Amino acid sequence: MKKWFSLLLSSILFIGLLSACGTSEESSEKQSGGEEKKVLKMGTSADYAPFEYIDTAKGDEIIGFDIDLAKMITEELGYEFEIVDMDFTGLIPALQSGKVDFVLAGMTATKERKKNVDFSDVYYVTKNIIVTKKGSGIKAVKDLKGKTVGVQTGTIQEGLAKKLAKTVDMKIESRNRIPELIQEINAGRFDAAIIEDKVAKGYIKNSNSKLEGSEIPTNEEEFGTAIAFPKGSKLTGEFNKVLKEKLKNGEVDKLIKKWFEQQ
Ligand code: ARG
Repeated sequence: MKKWFSLLLSSILFIGLLSACGTSEESSEKQSGGEEKKVLKMGTSADYAPFEYIDTAKGDEIIGFDIDLAKMITEELGYEFEIVDMDFTGLIPALQSGKVDFVLAGMTATKERKKNVDFSDVYYVTKNIIVTKKGSGIKAVKDLKGKTVGVQTGTIQEGLAKKLAKTVDMKIESRNRIPELIQEINAGRFDAAIIEDKVAKGYIKNSNSKLEGSEIPTNEEEFGTAIAFPKGSKLTGEFNKVLKEKLKNGEVDKLIKKWFEQQ
């Protein structure tokens, strides 16, 4: 008798479990306080402190400037969002296939990418740095002659390196994640890596004076960071309206101070 009862109970529980799974999979709508909130998926590549990264000392949550900015905009629009972490090269295909609704990943709004995705206004401008071991003697692009130079796959830094290699003979090596570039330098397999200024400075600062960096002068390059959306997404306009407001009223500046000026 007891046995039957517990069997009955567990099968009820099991059915309950199944139906709970069913509803959460059926839609991306979530109940919260009685009102329906659409859950958007945000693609990022969380290897990019202080834009998006995991501070392993504090936990496994993805944090950073881009995450705060996404929070600020989606909150105002009444959306919730969840983060989908992937390699940087996967982000544009993920937008195109509808796997994610938008991307904040320190992504530069280039002409090339604009053929495949839509961008918001620019919310941050970056420069590039050649990161090397201290005392490498590499101070400028011309010093990269005959050297092995690392870049992140699919980034504008990879494009830049390929362009530079036309005039300065260097060997380019691509890796999917930024920490791999630093590891290769530390291991002596790369002589240098080209990395965005804020990200590079973080690594240099944490290197115990083992690494150093030299800025690459920028001229005609585009280095504006923006939010990316699938082509024709109605979110572009919605997000951009809020972004423009926040750029104007100083709220984006506050986030910039919070994440970039503590370095
Ligand atoms: N700004 C560069 C680009 O758009 C690099 C961005 C890399 N971002 C990242 N989360 N790893 O190509």
